[in-house]
Amino acid sequence: LDNGLLRTPPMGWLAWERFRCNIDCDQDPKNCISERLFMEMADRLAKDGWRDLGYNYLNIDDCWIGGRDAKGRLVPDSKRFPHGIAFLADYAHSLGLKLGIYADMGNLTCMGYPGTTLDKVEQDAQTFAEWKVDMLKLDGCFSSRGDRAKGYPMMAAALNATGRPIAYSCSWPAYEGGLPPRVDYSLLADICNLWRNYDDIQDSWKDVLSILDWFVLHQDILQPVAGPGHWNDPDMLIIGNFGLSFEQARAQMALWTVLAAPLFMSTDLRTISAQNVEILQNPLMIKINQDPLGIQGRRIVKEKSQIEVFMRPLSDEASALVFFSRRTDMPFRYRSSLGQLQFPGSRVYEAQDVFSGQVITGLRDKTNFTVIINPSGVVMWYLYPIKNLEIAEWKSQE
Ligand code: DGJ
Repeated sequence: LDNGLLRTPPMGWLAWERFRCNIDCDQDPKNCISERLFMEMADRLAKDGWRDLGYNYLNIDDCWIGGRDAKGRLVPDSKRFPHGIAFLADYAHSLGLKLGIYADMGNLTCMGYPGTTLDKVEQDAQTFAEWKVDMLKLDGCFSSRGDRAKGYPMMAAALNATGRPIAYSCSWPAYEGGLPPRVDYSLLADICNLWRNYDDIQDSWKDVLSILDWFVLHQDILQPVAGPGHWNDPDMLIIGNFGLSFEQARAQMALWTVLAAPLFMSTDLRTISAQNVEILQNPLMIKINQDPLGIQGRRIVKEKSQIEVFMRPLSDEASALVFFSRRTDMPFRYRSSLGQLQFPGSRVYEAQDVFSGQVITGLRDKTNFTVIINPSGVVMWYLYPIKNLEIAEWKSQE
């Protein structure tokens, strides 16, 4: 969607995967869906370095709605959001953050709260704009195919008509099976800033893999439709929760980054471990995710050894490479060369390991290298041609 927003994939925090529809503020006041939860996450985003690295969206998901008022306007649950959504938006803005909200293009949200039926689309868009909301995720439960086909474009127009820049996340394709001919990706790219293509992520490695597998299986369709202002969304990062090992957390981060995916964390930023913070706050990783060209990467190699290589082209003739192991035995020594990975033979490259920072220089097309990839883990390289070859040669002789 050409509204000037999300020229690079959005980054931030989204409540759903970790906090779901916990509305029990009596028994669980710290973790229920309430303004307290969002304010506490806002504080963490602002104070723990997240915002300054680009994680600036604070996004509400399902279960915030209390009903509609006499004029038909959506209102939040008054017990859990006593000061209202405009207050939360102001709070987010005061910390340099943006606020995202959730609605559903149907009779009810997935968890059974009031939906945004066709006759409510314009009113709800105006309400969100009045509240100074910055992003809308429009879910698709309890809707017909025909209503979605009308409603998603109608909401795009209604948001635009408010005059407020509101990024627009569409769950539409996920409700149509994610593939053409049922899904028209060029239409989606025109009307949405991002879209959920496939199933919800759950807190397990199995779910990360099944999402990855689907995106790879259909990469010829999905890869070309992503770009500045319009992104495929393989769903939230579950790093920091309960389902991933250390290696798997790194793998999700690296794979989502080569896929030019939105980086929406869904974890408890109040208690996240230093190790997981380090994965999520890796500056080179974020620089790659946020590359201005906005080209989604692809899987370029699938070996019998269960090693796969992903490549994402980046600006300044650089690329990101992810060597991914699906093995379950022991660290695997994967031998390759840039020539085997189809890099042009005329140049000399240098690679920086995104996790260790280690630099390997003087890589020509036939130079063999070995990367050691842990089970269900990755090695990730930021690879770039050496500009000043003489200096590099001189250094490597030292
Ligand atoms: C389905 C969506 O895909 C999830 O991300 C989440 O928003 C839930 N609905 C909420 O009910």
